[in-house]
Amino acid sequence: MKTIHFLVLSLMICLISCTGASSDAVKGNRDIAGMEKSQNASQRVEALLAQMTIGEKIGQLNLLTPGGAVTGAAVSVGVEGKIKAGSVGGIFGIRGAAKIKQAQDIAMNHSRLRIPLIFGLDVIHGHQTTFPIPLGLSCSWDMELIEKTARMATREATADGLMWTFSPMVDIARDPRWGRIAEGSGEDPFLGSAIAQAMVRGIQQSDLSDPTTMISCVKHFANYGASEAGRDYHTTDMSRVRMYNEYLPPYKAAVDAGVESIMTSFNVVDYIPASGNRWLLTELLREEWGFGGFVVTDYTSINEMEQHGMGDIQQVSALALNAGVDMDMAGEGFLNTLKRSLAEGHVSEKAITDACRRILVAKEKLGLFDDPYRYIDEERAKKEILSDENRKTARSVAAQSFVLLKNDNQLLPLKKNGTIAVVGPLADSRRNMQGTWSVSGDHSKSVTVIEGIRSVVGSRAEILHAKGANISDDPVFARKTNAFGPEIVIDERSPEVMIQEAIDISTKADVIVAVMGEAADMSGEASSVSQIGLRKSQKRLLRALMETGKPIVMVLYNGRPMELVWENENMDAILDVWFGGLEGGNAVADVLFGDVNPSGKLTTTFPYHLAQIPIYHSHLNTGRPYDGKEGSKFLSHYLDIPNEPLFPFGYGLSYTTFEYSSIELSSNSLMKGGSIVASVTVNNTGEFDGKETVQLYIRDLVGSISRPVKELKGFQKISLAAGEQEKISFEISEPLLRFYNSELEHVSEPGDFEIMIGPNSRDVQKVRFELK
Ligand code: NOJ
Repeated sequence: MKTIHFLVLSLMICLISCTGASSDAVKGNRDIAGMEKSQNASQRVEALLAQMTIGEKIGQLNLLTPGGAVTGAAVSVGVEGKIKAGSVGGIFGIRGAAKIKQAQDIAMNHSRLRIPLIFGLDVIHGHQTTFPIPLGLSCSWDMELIEKTARMATREATADGLMWTFSPMVDIARDPRWGRIAEGSGEDPFLGSAIAQAMVRGIQQSDLSDPTTMISCVKHFANYGASEAGRDYHTTDMSRVRMYNEYLPPYKAAVDAGVESIMTSFNVVDYIPASGNRWLLTELLREEWGFGGFVVTDYTSINEMEQHGMGDIQQVSALALNAGVDMDMAGEGFLNTLKRSLAEGHVSEKAITDACRRILVAKEKLGLFDDPYRYIDEERAKKEILSDENRKTARSVAAQSFVLLKNDNQLLPLKKNGTIAVVGPLADSRRNMQGTWSVSGDHSKSVTVIEGIRSVVGSRAEILHAKGANISDDPVFARKTNAFGPEIVIDERSPEVMIQEAIDISTKADVIVAVMGEAADMSGEASSVSQIGLRKSQKRLLRALMETGKPIVMVLYNGRPMELVWENENMDAILDVWFGGLEGGNAVADVLFGDVNPSGKLTTTFPYHLAQIPIYHSHLNTGRPYDGKEGSKFLSHYLDIPNEPLFPFGYGLSYTTFEYSSIELSSNSLMKGGSIVASVTVNNTGEFDGKETVQLYIRDLVGSISRPVKELKGFQKISLAAGEQEKISFEISEPLLRFYNSELEHVSEPGDFEIMIGPNSRDVQKVRFELK
């Protein structure tokens, strides 16, 4: 998706011909940006600010893309001239030593103050070595692993000239229609916060002046995941209580972890677009949370305030600056109007200078004033990007993200012998393996499922293959999905011919592996859908395959929770593999054949039916909770579907089985300032070594506001050899029980609580304690 394309190349060809001077000119004795080497960081920035004209200050607030990451109507033009004029602070959407050096050369050799540009890109789930999409990665529940992927991606990206990534996306999402659910860590604020911090740590490490680290940008602030009707860019609205307790925690966690930049969202917050919302960007973010980094808008979101009915471009640009925005992505509203607004008294020079200072401080922290070319390291790029080690890690990480949803009669793992029919539109689809936002991933290097299977099985089994069906037979849907490339390829053969071919090979096989699901960009930005199940063409294939009577393993590619009731009734096994990245095909084979035991657990609830949306584990009770009895009329339920989801949050099977002892509690009363310990012993009772994520939920039984039926409050991922057992303990102290009350105070309230521990949010044991 959003690959660096021709526009960038042509811009860069022009850049080459227009700039003769080399980076060496700015090294050695010549000062960068007129700075004395002896000055300390803030003196250098202040000295620079003192030399800048108002136009140059506004220029620093301008972030342009020459075309590589166009996600809206605007495309930056005349970029070279603007850089020379000191009207650009940063560039996004290009990568690679040559391109970045050329652009930096323009700033360093032709702009009056020679202020280096900052270069950003969406390094979302890996860089050139791609990992599973974020939703998949979150299902690993493994913070060390997640941090490691961010670290690896950052090393690759910084060797490729980048110093700023628009990641992580931490928007809580509970609506699978919304395509961007794929880009986040699911529905839960506790888990989402832990992942946000792991990502920020992995990207920024502890030292931004180290050129193998970069600035992280947490996004999209705020509440973007709550888009009404699951339609992208749509309205969001919620109570402050919900916002503080459920939607804001992951952004706050990223700020607490020291994230250096934050991106505004497209949506309104309390009816004011985020990019113009002073309460959000200044009072909450800076004053309450103490955020000290810089705020960048999302793509043209200042301009889009015109559509939101907030005024013309001059008004909305002033609104954004006054709200607390520092950098304007792609829209050039700041560039084109702030001078006039200053003259007319709508913005102050101080506001412009403050925003400019924040950008310069970020550049200073990155070490750009010492060496604007420090992120270009062709040697390291050659050695590290797509290295064997990175690919090996990608393969093992992908396997950790897979969630085994069903495994009747222990059909999985498959034996590496006999005859295996591998069918389905995703089995041999190189273009779809990496998933949405694999900006720098080279699709031609992806490993497909059929390749993975053939390489893992070798000559021990006969592998037969047929496509069997298109991802969708609908050409209009296919064209819309294929905005970034041929992901849905409608075969020239008729559906009947394709199905027949699949049946022919399946009748010869011992088992069928049906690789089904979504195309990569059926989820992601601007990829909302009304139907979250398999498309008709694929259901038809599965029905036909069932007629063969052969056992079927469904391998599911998806960027969102799916509706799978029929599949759950009719398939023998279901392995959800999300989009595993570059090495996904190998990882699928590793898990199918038991070289890796699956251990992923869902981080979003899989509904029984789309009508249940929003459905999530930490909901409030109603005053009339359903008792499940047929005659209960005036209770909260549906006449035609259950209240419960198909697969609950936290759910995922293993090839082995785990048994939980009952909960031991060190005391059933907790004093403020003290702690109690809840423990369970988990026993691997099956025949495989395996990993289990033990989950702790807590319910606050009586409160000054209605409290959720359960909230995730802890988790531990453990490895147990077959037959092994381990005692797992969770320490519970008063701060863990705090929530935002109706005054938005972060408090705990004395009284009874329920502790729940289990392998998922549904199958839990309960004990009570009292907070005194
Ligand atoms: C728009 C997306 O909403 C945002 O997540 C992304 O970082 C920017 N485009 C830049 O590509």
